[in-house]
Amino acid sequence: MKILGGITRQAFLNEYWQKKPLLIRQAFADYESPISPDELAGLACEDYIQSRLVLEQGEDGPWELRHGPFSDDDFTRLPETHWTLLVQAVDHYVPEITCLLDEFDFIPNWRVDDVMISFASEQGSVGPHLDSYDVFLLQSYGRRHWQINQDSYSEDDFIAGPELRILAEFEAEQDWILEPGDMLYLPPGVAHHGVALEDCMTISIGFRAPSQKELLSAYTHHCNEFAKPRYYTDPDLELQESIGEITAKQIRDVRRLLLSAISDDAAFSNWFGRFITENPADCGEYQAEDISEEEFQQQFEQDGHLNRSGNIRMSYIEEDETISFFYAGNQLSLAYEQRELISYLCANHYLDYAAIMELTDDACVIKLLHRLYSEGCLFFDE
Ligand code: SIN
Ligand code: CO
Repeated sequence: MKILGGITRQAFLNEYWQKKPLLIRQAFADYESPISPDELAGLACEDYIQSRLVLEQGEDGPWELRHGPFSDDDFTRLPETHWTLLVQAVDHYVPEITCLLDEFDFIPNWRVDDVMISFASEQGSVGPHLDSYDVFLLQSYGRRHWQINQDSYSEDDFIAGPELRILAEFEAEQDWILEPGDMLYLPPGVAHHGVALEDCMTISIGFRAPSQKELLSAYTHHCNEFAKPRYYTDPDLELQESIGEITAKQIRDVRRLLLSAISDDAAFSNWFGRFITENPADCGEYQAEDISEEEFQQQFEQDGHLNRSGNIRMSYIEEDETISFFYAGNQLSLAYEQRELISYLCANHYLDYAAIMELTDDACVIKLLHRLYSEGCLFFDE
């Protein structure tokens, strides 16, 4: 599948990624939505799934936001037009949507956030707004009119309100009508407004970028738990004219002490690998059956494939002679020979028996897969 149209993956990264929008007509040719509007509404009724309804003319005024879980009644009471249902992290629950992520094989998988799916009634939208992350908006059902504007906006440009940050004024610079299979890439901060021309569904493949604040807070938490205390030292202290002064050298030494907390390459990269593959908070664990390694191998061979659970993140870091494999916040140190296998596991949610056996004839493979299976990271189709 050529989801970038006529553009190479390298050209996309050079010219568009985090830089400018790109419309790709028929990124997914003859696309048929892997999920129906009714199935999406069904997910929005589950209490473990995050969902929202946005009503342009709500009972409590314009742009009313309601939080799920919803009931059938909530849906039957909705107006005919001008509303949108948004369901978060559908990739965690619907294997076809999980596998859609594998098509985005030109962006490191740790940058993926989740796949949100919206259903909009005619004229439905969530209002003109901007997001702080990269997103691919794949039209999966019906048509949507997208308008964008690449101006920069300030705090005063938004309608006041705690959650929906809608632009008070929005003028389109470019616009397109997207049909099923068309996809629009938007870098962070580009204002966009998508209005449904009829009942329509849009799949948002959203990326994440950790903020400095988030990293600092998570790393500090990690240090509090694990690092040995290290104190400021000053054996070279010089007599000061005034004891009230904090000198430039002392400030430098304090900063150096802080920076030394992240200066050990191995410790830092191991922490990051675990941190960035941690399970999203909302996800329920998949319960695996307790089967032996032999039984596992037999079933894998017989089914011909295995699936990776949608909520399990996997990435790796190459060391000199080993591979640090991270999954769901755990870390395993593996022999370098396992690199191909690990790379395959990280890039695919549908694990093909023959493809895996071709990669390696090592007996450790089944051991590793059985372990991941027993921990609920992999599952067999029903
Ligand atoms: C939508 O699907 O309605 C909204 C997606 C977005 O604007 O990010
Ligand atoms: Co948006």
